[in-house]
Amino acid sequence: MIVLKVQQSITLIVLAVATVAGVAQVPASQSPATLTLAIHAHEAKAKVSPMLYGLMTEEINFSYDGGLYGELVRNRTFQDHASRAEHWFVHEGWGVDASIKLDRTTGPSEALSLSVQLVVKAASAKGMAGLENEGFWGIPIRPKTKYTGSFYAKADDAASGPVTVSLVNDQTGRVLAASTVPVAGAWKQYKFTLLSGSDATSANNRLRLSVAKPGTLWFSLISLFPPTYKGRVNGNRPDLMEKMAEMKPNFLRFPGGNYLEGDHINERFEWKKTIGHLVDRPTHPSPWRYHSSDGLGLLEFLEWCEDLKMQPLLAVYAGYSMKQEYVKPGPDLEPYLQDALEEIEYVTGSTDTKWGAQRAKDGHPAPFKMAYVEVGNEDWFDKSGSYEGRYAQYYKAIKAKYPELQVIATMPIKEMKADVVDDHFYRSAKQFYEDVHHYDAIDRNGPKIFVGEWATREGSPTPNFASALGDAAWMTSMERNSDLVVMASYAPLLVNVNPGGMQWESDLIGYDALTSYGSPSYYAQVMFGSHIGDQILGAELTGSAPRFFYSVTRGSANGTIYLKLVNANPEAQTLSLKLDGVKSVEKNAKLISLSAKTPAATNTITTPTAIIPVDGTITNAAASFTQVVPAYTIQVIELKTK
Ligand code: AHR
Repeated sequence: MIVLKVQQSITLIVLAVATVAGVAQVPASQSPATLTLAIHAHEAKAKVSPMLYGLMTEEINFSYDGGLYGELVRNRTFQDHASRAEHWFVHEGWGVDASIKLDRTTGPSEALSLSVQLVVKAASAKGMAGLENEGFWGIPIRPKTKYTGSFYAKADDAASGPVTVSLVNDQTGRVLAASTVPVAGAWKQYKFTLLSGSDATSANNRLRLSVAKPGTLWFSLISLFPPTYKGRVNGNRPDLMEKMAEMKPNFLRFPGGNYLEGDHINERFEWKKTIGHLVDRPTHPSPWRYHSSDGLGLLEFLEWCEDLKMQPLLAVYAGYSMKQEYVKPGPDLEPYLQDALEEIEYVTGSTDTKWGAQRAKDGHPAPFKMAYVEVGNEDWFDKSGSYEGRYAQYYKAIKAKYPELQVIATMPIKEMKADVVDDHFYRSAKQFYEDVHHYDAIDRNGPKIFVGEWATREGSPTPNFASALGDAAWMTSMERNSDLVVMASYAPLLVNVNPGGMQWESDLIGYDALTSYGSPSYYAQVMFGSHIGDQILGAELTGSAPRFFYSVTRGSANGTIYLKLVNANPEAQTLSLKLDGVKSVEKNAKLISLSAKTPAATNTITTPTAIIPVDGTITNAAASFTQVVPAYTIQVIELKTK
């Protein structure tokens, strides 16, 4: 996290009026008077869920291909378009005669049964012919960096090769790195590495595969990776992994979202087609209007969890796809249910089980610890009303085999008690302010709540400060109710900000080929997720001010009280704090503030740190002290108490 240092000066105390948990309520026209927050530290009201904050992900906004997944080659298996090799171009120059086209009659595997055919009629060492890929809005090349690549190829005769693989700058035509690969005969995989020189970092580059003589060659699965997070083969982009790590997420909900369901049943996320060697993954169309490479498949999701110390929260396909296609509960649903049980076995089973053994064969013998499974996604969209039956069938079978698993329903269930229900909220900041009591009075004997998708949707492509305020207000409400709200995950998480990259506005983290940035909402989540204890303390806010929100939690191990304050008003708010039930409060307290001059202020790819948390110290913390929360400000205060 990026932080600046400031000193916080302190003012004095005042009075009390109306009492509401979590928010002070008064007409917006009144000027702000001092509020009083009484914190009762003698006993914890309830426990904070140890899993409260996590991540939700799916292939949307080029989240994986062209995003987190390290692959630099776009349309590497030539399946983005039915008849054209999109994002690929012929490379030819003076005295060269070459063409490329899709060939559906030959490919390197059963799963990848098509390829691109390169026909070279004239070429020479001085005028080479080939094909070039433009990457995902460019190919980012950094100085003195090793790139690892491979491709499958077939040649019409032994004399066709060798193939020169190079990285070429678009603007200057300069070759930044090159390697020569002998290619001959039937389909085979070829590997290469490219080492860049001292040229400055740039994304205006392309990957070229070229030959110096006439012949016909076929290519497929042309791949190029930069260094990845923790050096994983087929791994993830480091800057995005680091940004997520800063959020201290406890779980990852995957693979969706709509991406789990697909538009049609045959376009759902079929996990068995996303494991094993890349050449055996057929890839599939996603509901977000572009083709998925499935390079980030089931095991890669799990390794992502492992790298960030998160628990997988697996959403299993449950017989509903978004164009109102559904599978009737009963025998028709049974094959899908068996597939889901096998998927759970792949994640959690020992190597003595069939699918645990497959996971070991794929490179990960150790099972993954998992406590929650979600049955479907947003099944309230299913107009047939089949979800009650589908959930019940899945619940019974999952519990029979995995009694320790909590089974999440995607909508309220009437005929039985679900373990957990997934609630989704996409709202304006105002709507969140007005609904911060949403969970206060919900029956604690009913199902637990998973807020599996939520976001304040103001700002595009990433949320602005108004959203951060709405989000922070909503997070105070989830924290105060986190005995009931056991998990929450913002959505969507990622967006490629290049033109055409976004399908859904307001996404937490933005990026292009070279750099990434966190939105103000991202920083609000970093602040909340990394300052949370295990106990919810009782507290009351009295006084009159609209749009002021709080939560108070404590770490039982060390007595640190985490106070979150949100002032969404255009004026500073004076707050009188009164703690009872503590012997002492250390006078120096850590203060982290996130502020903006206006709600419309934001971070962008070119101004990535306009709004970032600022670290400071409160120097007169005590059992009774006053804190001024500036206009449009989110604060976290760590009070060390005994
Ligand atoms: O987060 C974007 C989409 O919103 C998800 O795919 C879907 O579950 C919800 O409708």
